[in-house]
Amino acid sequence: MKRIIIAIDGPAASGKSTTAKLLARKLRYLYLDTGAMYRACALAAKRQNIDIDDSEALKGLMDSIQIKIQYSELGNITLLDSEDVSLAIREPEISLLASAISAKAVVRTKMVELQREMGKAGGVILDGRDIGTVVFPEAELKIFLVAPVQIRAQRRFLELQDKGLNPIFEEVLSELKERDLADSSRALAPLIPARDAIEIDTGQLSIEGQVAKLYQYYQKRMAGL
Ligand code: DC
Repeated sequence: MKRIIIAIDGPAASGKSTTAKLLARKLRYLYLDTGAMYRACALAAKRQNIDIDDSEALKGLMDSIQIKIQYSELGNITLLDSEDVSLAIREPEISLLASAISAKAVVRTKMVELQREMGKAGGVILDGRDIGTVVFPEAELKIFLVAPVQIRAQRRFLELQDKGLNPIFEEVLSELKERDLADSSRALAPLIPARDAIEIDTGQLSIEGQVAKLYQYYQKRMAGL
């Protein structure tokens, strides 16, 4: 059976990574979390004290770091210069910095190239902001997930609590709003649905419901190929 490229885009905490991971397991596809790659860039900039508005310094950083995603049963492992940074990149501070650094052309060019290389053979689900519009506009199935910001903030709040952190709901909410605005209003590869993307509101769906819905769309698409 043909192994296609599935693009899942949408705002933060809309259910992309959970759904993508489970659907990938069901289909025996690879899952690629592209947000993790921008987060790793942000972590590298923070550690090296790089001002992301200093284009020379940022270019130097991008030329010198190596970002890799390794696949594991439990999800993606993000490697920054061979160090496993999967946990460090989930810090709330890194979320905002990832959003800011991802607006820079020098960063996007390198990440998009890596993503295309990793996904081109098919049999892959990528989640992000610009997968269906920029990275793989030819993807056979494009999904755009949305959900009301209050619900997304509640999800992120619980995720952070599960990790043993002590989040404040209002802060989580305002960080999401800030990122929504930055990610969708930037000049380069802004967060917008591809014209041929299927929009799904996950606000009232369970995780199983989301996976089932995407699986139905996958089957429908495969039947038409
Ligand atoms: O999916 P995430 O929340 O982990 O992504 C972190 C940031 O990275 C997000 O705010 C915007 C950026 N990003 C992007 O610009 N393009 C992608 N394909 C994925 C993420």
